[in-house]
Amino acid sequence: MRYIGKRVPRNDGEAKVRGKAIFVSDIYLPHMIYASIVRSPYPYAKIKGVQKSKALKIKGVLDVITASDIPGENVIPVVWRDMPALAEEFVRYNGEAVAIVAAKTKEIADRGAKSVFVDYEPLPPCLCPILSMEGKPSIIYGNNNIYKHWKIRKGDVENAFLKADIILENTYETSYQEHSYLEPQGMIAIPLEDGGIEIRGSMQCPFYVREAVALTLNLPYSKVRVIQTVTGGGFGGKEDVPSIVAVQAALPAFRLKRPTKVIYSREEDIISMSKRHPAIIKIKNAVTKEGKLIAGEVTYILDAGAYSTLSPVVAWRGTVHSLGPYRYENVKVDTYAVATNKVPCGAFRGFGSPQILFAVESQMDEIANKLQICPYEFRKMNILREGDITITGQKLKDDVGLLETIEKAMKESRWDEKRKEYKKYNGRFRRGIGCSTLHYGVCLGAGGKHLDRAGAFVQLMYDGSATYAVGTTEMGQGMHTVLSQIVAEELGVEYEKVYPMASDTHIVPDSGPTVASRSTLMSGNALREACKTIRKELIEAAGNILGVNPQMIEYKEGWFLLNNEKKLHLSDVLKKVFSERRHLASSGWFVSPPTSWDEEEGQGDAYITYSYATNVSEVEVDTLTGEVNVLKITAAHDMGKAINPSGVEGQIEGGALQGMGFSLMEEIVMENGKIINPDFSTYIIPTSKDAPLIKAIITEHPFRDGPYGAKGFGELPLMGVAPAICNAIFDATGVRIKKIPAKPEIILELLKNRRDKNE
Ligand code: MTE
Ligand code: MOS
Repeated sequence: MRYIGKRVPRNDGEAKVRGKAIFVSDIYLPHMIYASIVRSPYPYAKIKGVQKSKALKIKGVLDVITASDIPGENVIPVVWRDMPALAEEFVRYNGEAVAIVAAKTKEIADRGAKSVFVDYEPLPPCLCPILSMEGKPSIIYGNNNIYKHWKIRKGDVENAFLKADIILENTYETSYQEHSYLEPQGMIAIPLEDGGIEIRGSMQCPFYVREAVALTLNLPYSKVRVIQTVTGGGFGGKEDVPSIVAVQAALPAFRLKRPTKVIYSREEDIISMSKRHPAIIKIKNAVTKEGKLIAGEVTYILDAGAYSTLSPVVAWRGTVHSLGPYRYENVKVDTYAVATNKVPCGAFRGFGSPQILFAVESQMDEIANKLQICPYEFRKMNILREGDITITGQKLKDDVGLLETIEKAMKESRWDEKRKEYKKYNGRFRRGIGCSTLHYGVCLGAGGKHLDRAGAFVQLMYDGSATYAVGTTEMGQGMHTVLSQIVAEELGVEYEKVYPMASDTHIVPDSGPTVASRSTLMSGNALREACKTIRKELIEAAGNILGVNPQMIEYKEGWFLLNNEKKLHLSDVLKKVFSERRHLASSGWFVSPPTSWDEEEGQGDAYITYSYATNVSEVEVDTLTGEVNVLKITAAHDMGKAINPSGVEGQIEGGALQGMGFSLMEEIVMENGKIINPDFSTYIIPTSKDAPLIKAIITEHPFRDGPYGAKGFGELPLMGVAPAICNAIFDATGVRIKKIPAKPEIILELLKNRRDKNE
């Protein structure tokens, strides 16, 4: 093939690198005004009243908007409809929006926001997820605070534990993770002459934004047009919450009939926008002395925060992945998404999987260590292979590349040698090597199947160039590069002449969210479908020129072949197409293959297919300071087909670093529900200086329903990094990390405990 599998340069690369890309904050419109948000200083309080008058007296302040001013419903719809656009009776987390102040300049809007007086009656907040589950104190739905409880029941767990040679039980904990996208949240709302509104901004899911704006303004979808601007990173953090920002811009724009801009400061963004759920995971395994896993029991508690937002589906994905990529006959899983008076948590690369994987893969390491089996040999004995049944009862009919990722990662990292060699480091600096394996359900699966469809629109021009539009979005992951390669391949045009349009709700029908690593597969297939219609027109025209039945013609890489012989080039045929007045535009539509789920037993074909990966991490631990230096990460991935190997490697490198931050350094610190480190001088993320050597390995086990066999994989690179690093720390020092981030002070303490115990 001409473009599939090739390392073409990113089509958005140069503009971004040279600073030419236009982000929402770069856009200025005539008569544009600015909005600032009045936010709750309490984690939980009753709102007794809001006084606007002082703010309205400030010169340049144009409007102060509260819940009662909303023309439609006061709601930001996500899975459920429990979150208001503006708090009305209660504020439920520190940072929640209470009022919007619109003004001529941002400075005046900020001053106005400080002058709005809100009369609060503080209430005792619920901050601990464990106490919350006991309803202490009750903050939602009567006496318990559980948004959603998911279950898996398979086999006979109790009996398996009776028969086990070894039973191992541990509790693991993970912390918040902030998305730290380079570009903070931002939106512009533009009132239109016909009474409608246009929204432009940074987002992953234009169709979610449309729904929120239409509901709050009481407009039909046809009068709400949402267009994505260049988006400087999302990582799940621009899935649902941009709807909040869009409504904050739309309300003043709609009332004042002036374009309104809302750009968050980093502090505001960290305080009020979604994060990865902190989690507590209790996991218990039964194993035979030969090393066969026979039972797994998991209690997975997600601290969901003040509104349910995406937590029901994050918890579902976590449930499906709750025992890793292994065969089990006996399974009992209970996942709880629990309400607390803290910032609502949502989607973050991996969607409930990285937390559970930290627990599962640390646990696998512990078991292997107890049985004195090499960690990867132990995994090889238990991993899912083609034809195996997952814990949800799904038979894996497709090629399963997991074993190959293990073998390649072990070989490439020289695991066996390193494992021995690193034992020699027994002074202040200790070295170790650790691994993790994982699977990941691609696309939305049974938990979101009604949204799992995607549209596309393609137009071939008479000069051999093409444009296309899809309903999923580019947020830095390289979607448009891959999709342009697909269009170029299908239409036989040059990659450089394919022009992707901005994602726009008025051009492509609702294609669901850009999450769950679904855009290559879903939009890729929709584009192929659209291109098929155009190809048919081209082949018919070629048939007319050659005077043969079009069925005899093959069209490949811009050439029309008759009996494998190049007869005509696209440029010749396009002239004919023009004179024959053929239609060279088409739409495409793809619906994901079927999935299923039984709520009671937690059984079903959860996902259409899975991607697989193995990570190996090498670390050096300074036993004097507790610092961990990650030396190398080797990551082998099966993504079906790497449409652009450079893009795949880029994802692996970025994901490895983001996973390293999750393991070792990133931590949101709260005092009474207030985030006290909302900036990058106190919330520490890895920089290029912290980057280890990263070796990316591609393995390709094609998926029959994927474009050219491709599955999604954008989230996987982050997912197994934390346990691989923590398992390497164990190999280096003998201390088991049960809570991340594994900051130096924690490691020092564990080292000290271990010394005390040994003495
Ligand atoms: N890579 C970059 N550079 N920026 C991002 O925001 N988001 C991740 C991943 N990789 C992200 C990224 C997440 S959370 C998802 S779901 C996938 O990309 C989405 O992209 P895909 O559907 O094209 O795989
Ligand atoms: Mo990604 S967390 O599914 O946006």
